[in-house]
Amino acid sequence: MDNTIFEQVDAYISHLLGSEDEVLRNITRSIEEHHFPNASISANQGKFLQIMALACSAQTILELGTFCGYSTVWLARVLPPGGRLISIEADPHHHQVAQQNMILAGLEDRVDLRLGNAKKWLDEMEQEGVQFDFVFIDADKPPYKEYVETAIRLCRKGAIIVADNVVRNGAVLDSETTDEKVKGVQRLNEFLGGSDLVTATILQNVGVKEYDGMAIMVVN
Ligand code: DHB
Ligand code: MG
Repeated sequence: MDNTIFEQVDAYISHLLGSEDEVLRNITRSIEEHHFPNASISANQGKFLQIMALACSAQTILELGTFCGYSTVWLARVLPPGGRLISIEADPHHHQVAQQNMILAGLEDRVDLRLGNAKKWLDEMEQEGVQFDFVFIDADKPPYKEYVETAIRLCRKGAIIVADNVVRNGAVLDSETTDEKVKGVQRLNEFLGGSDLVTATILQNVGVKEYDGMAIMVVN
């Protein structure tokens, strides 16, 4: 597929409505310097997450999959005074780079970066009875359905949950796929189709990133 028009329009939108500052550009630079494959969201997707968090007046935000903190910064910046964001990352190297990036962003007071397996932290938070207003899921894809099920239990009614990468370049159409990431998001998408715990849809995303999609849910 020729993505030129999508990339140009993405740049047009981000120029008008979702521009990056030096802090965000430096995070992308830190990803390149470490030669990590860049799995961050785009600038316009960062703005989209901000709007979703603002729409539910989020004071408590949970992120699964910090990576190097790019989406974390977009989200933490719309927290009201006293708001908190917890972000979980399983890869120690990504976590360490993200820690540094939060300090450079001046957000370390609002952002609690946790290293380790998301399931372990989710179980712990469920025990503690922590509640969230907004959740962004962008971690490993095979357990996506389980992540969303737990996130729903951790959320108040009216909370918004967004899950990245649920279209995977259209590979979700392949019911015979052996790709564990695709199978993981297919399981989530099918769960959403049959659940009355949330009101959900999937937005296809085109632009500077691979053709993909985000699942958007409101907790009923
Ligand atoms: C992958 C993960 C992501 O979160 C993303 O945005 C793109 C790709 C991956 O694991 O392939
Ligand atoms: Mg992603």
